[in-house]
Amino acid sequence: MTWQTVVKPEEGKVTCFLIMDDSLEKNAFVICFQGQFYAYENRCPHMGTTLDWVEGQFFSEQWLMCQTHGALFNPINGDCVSGPCSHGLRRLKLRDEQDHLLIHA
Ligand code: FES
Repeated sequence: MTWQTVVKPEEGKVTCFLIMDDSLEKNAFVICFQGQFYAYENRCPHMGTTLDWVEGQFFSEQWLMCQTHGALFNPINGDCVSGPCSHGLRRLKLRDEQDHLLIHA
C-alpha cells in the first residue's frame, strides 16, 4: 500500500493531485471543510467527468458541485444531495500527519 504525500489546503480551499489506483493514474482532490480534511476521487458518479471542468471550482456555498450538470455533494461524506447522480463521490483514505496529508486510493 502506497500513501501519497499531499499539501494541506487552507480552510475552504482544495488541493488537486493525481493518485495511482491499481496502476491507473486518477484525478483526485482534498478539501479543508470546517477544519477537517476530506479526500475524494475527482470523478462525478453521473457521467464520469471531473467535478471542476471549470478548473479549481468545487464549492457552491457549503456543497461540492459538479460543474457539468450541477450535482451537489456533501463535503463531509461525499453523498449526493441533489442532481442526476445515483450515488456519491468515492472517498479516499486519508491520514493527517500534522504538516502534510497522506492519502491512499
Ligand atoms: S457529470 Fe456530474 S452531474 Fe452530470
